[in-house]
Amino acid sequence: MSTVGKPIKCKAAVLYGFNQPLKIEEIEVAPPKAREVRIKICASGICHTDDHALSAGMASLNFPVILGHEGAGIVESCGQGVTKVKPGDHVIALCSPMCMKCKCCLHEDSNFCVDNDVGKNKGLMLDKTTRFSINGKQIYNFMSCSTFTEYTCVDEFACVKIDPKANLDEVCLIGCGFSTGYGTVLNTAKVKPGTTCVVFGLGGIGMSAVMGCKVAGASRIIGVDINPTKFSRAKELGCTECINPNDCDKPIHEVIVEMTEGGADYGFECIGKVDVMASMIQSTHHSFGSANIIGVPKSTDRLVMDVMWVLTGRTINGAFLGDFKASLDFPGLVQDAIQAKKFDLSKLVTNKLPFEKINEGFDLMRHGKCVRTVLIMDKCGKK
Ligand code: APR
Ligand code: ZN
Repeated sequence: MSTVGKPIKCKAAVLYGFNQPLKIEEIEVAPPKAREVRIKICASGICHTDDHALSAGMASLNFPVILGHEGAGIVESCGQGVTKVKPGDHVIALCSPMCMKCKCCLHEDSNFCVDNDVGKNKGLMLDKTTRFSINGKQIYNFMSCSTFTEYTCVDEFACVKIDPKANLDEVCLIGCGFSTGYGTVLNTAKVKPGTTCVVFGLGGIGMSAVMGCKVAGASRIIGVDINPTKFSRAKELGCTECINPNDCDKPIHEVIVEMTEGGADYGFECIGKVDVMASMIQSTHHSFGSANIIGVPKSTDRLVMDVMWVLTGRTINGAFLGDFKASLDFPGLVQDAIQAKKFDLSKLVTNKLPFEKINEGFDLMRHGKCVRTVLIMDKCGKK
């Protein structure tokens, strides 16, 4: 029976307050209004940013809320006036959609639309409501999409059509983690062949940065993590050596500077800790090093820096979503994965869990037992 134009009852993982477990509830997803798209989510990665939001690390969040922002699925129905996708299209949900009209979207070097919800966390669609409800009470959305649900409804600009041949269980990672790590290496730092890179943090984001360094042709890729169980996978993906700071008898940046005769060409912080950011910066060469911050710290944390770190010529960059303009670049990134086979996303997906086991998935991440856990939704017509 067609669901078009009707509310859909489905399962979603609802968060009612900070630091609580997610609760699988039956919710209602109203039909898409004009210029909105309702999507059957097939797969959703669990990203540290979701845990960051859950554990009150972000400035604000409205409750109840459906988290998740690394999802892929199939368009179920479209509201009036939607032109970019149609029912049956395979899509990636966009956690950083672009209106393509504002000053940022029109700027060649920006991907940070004035209309995206990052940092504001209002959890509302463009019309200031959401399509999610439970017993008549509105549930907020997250980062313009919400993917920890069997169905979501997004503004048209918050999804992008991709090649239906792509495995949604893997390309969902392009929605956030993979693009963030990989893009910062290629688009922001623009790593050159034959150089030395150091990647701090070997989770989903860090491993994606390692993959980027490999694709860019770096000759030396040093991985740094306090969890040595990450090292074998990191080496498989391109690390030439891995170091555990806890095994060192001096600060990690001094170790890296020694190993690289003065400092790495490029550094990447993929954890979200300001003390590690400081180490990462000082691990890069004082004169020509490029230090790149990817991890998201608590909103109240501050990076204290010695101005000499940059006065000697080093640069410090930050990037959001790897500087990709998601709606323009993601379809090509999917092709790079499945056609050109530039990188293998399956190597990032260490765990797949049924959606209902979402809290187990968060625990795997919190205890460092996975690179990425992808939640697989029931009843998805295709893989
Ligand atoms: N030094 C080195 N490694 C560390 C340290 C530290 N002090 N603290 C944590 N780590 C390692 C962990 O052992 C883990 O392997 O950092 C890695 C973080 O990986 P994940 O928890 O999988 O996080 P990920 O999803 O990759 O996100 C990392 O990027 O987008 C942001 O919000 C996200 O800030 C988070 C960061
Ligand atoms: Zn993310």
